Amino acid sequence: FSSRKNTMWKYKEFIPVDENKIVTLQEGATPFCKCDKLGKELGINLHVKVEGSNPTGSFKDRGMSVGMTKAIMLGVDAVGCASTGNTSASLAAYAARGGLKSIVLLPAGNVALGKLAQAMFHGAEVLSVDGNFDEALEMITKLAREKYLYLLNSINPFRLEGQKTIGFEILEDLGWQSPDRIILPVGNAGNISAIWKGIKEFYNAGYVENKPMMTGIQAEGSAPITHAFRKKSKSITPVENPETIATAIRIGDPVSYTKALNAIYDSNGYSETVSDDEILNAQKLLARTEGIGVEPASAASIAGLKKLVEDGTIEKGENIVCVVTGHLLKDPDTAIKASKEPTKIGASYDELKAYIQK
Ligand code: F0G
Repeated sequence: FSSRKNTMWKYKEFIPVDENKIVTLQEGATPFCKCDKLGKELGINLHVKVEGSNPTGSFKDRGMSVGMTKAIMLGVDAVGCASTGNTSASLAAYAARGGLKSIVLLPAGNVALGKLAQAMFHGAEVLSVDGNFDEALEMITKLAREKYLYLLNSINPFRLEGQKTIGFEILEDLGWQSPDRIILPVGNAGNISAIWKGIKEFYNAGYVENKPMMTGIQAEGSAPITHAFRKKSKSITPVENPETIATAIRIGDPVSYTKALNAIYDSNGYSETVSDDEILNAQKLLARTEGIGVEPASAASIAGLKKLVEDGTIEKGENIVCVVTGHLLKDPDTAIKASKEPTKIGASYDELKAYIQK
């Protein structure tokens, strides 16, 4: 693969769509940052896979590129999704690129500003639903069943075919080695399922000799998968009114829970919850220790890492990859609220110097 142009499409033989119809913004091939400072603090070897560097600022672009290509192959004229924000931003952009109409359902009042701006600006029909994500997903799924549109939520298997390339890239980034563990935030549970699929495909192809423990982190108030994991159950009890500051993963009834739980159990993995405070502290820690700016949901993977190191679940010296899923700028409100206000000074050198000396 190394001689090919560096996008996720360098793995095209593993992606089941017509390569002449690909709708792409050159997604994938995201930064894989060794984080020695944070790793040393925690006593592990840490790499962070920075999915915020995709074209619209989240990992959704990988799945959307493949999903939109499939929509074009099928000859549909409209696509849609329900979304906590990132999927809608990505869908709007890729629908524009593919020349299709798009409609997105967003839970009113719970979508971060950057994502809303993207969905609106790329020309999607944006509907604000007086309800939560789970309700919006149920509504749009019905519309899709009645053939008004082609559904591009992660229940669509072609979305996962794109997102599995995160797993491919991690193995290649590590020089065709598996890390001991991959940690990522879990909401609707598509991504952990997709990455595990990618890992298994490259393992079965003989490219690597080991597989990582898949470790899914959920927000405390939206954690049906962690609750199931604690009971060693293969089914979930949906959370009625999911809550968390990490609006991207504010989901109570994840559609891909079976695949996600299988990924965790089959890989000897783990699932844990983190509180909103732990999420915000981890977001700041990553930004200020390593210079990597992520949205709150993405910081759940770092918060989870910290918690599992502290409680001994993660052993010292483990090789760990944290997937951070979306860019800091997706949610500017939360970043500003968590920061110190800029200090006001006059347009005077003397005033500046006096301030700096102080
Ligand atoms: N991180 C971010 C930044 C997300 O936007 C999402 C999901 C997740 C993690 C969780 O991924 O659902 O595959 O388990 N966002 C969806 C959306 C639900 O509508 O944008 P998952």
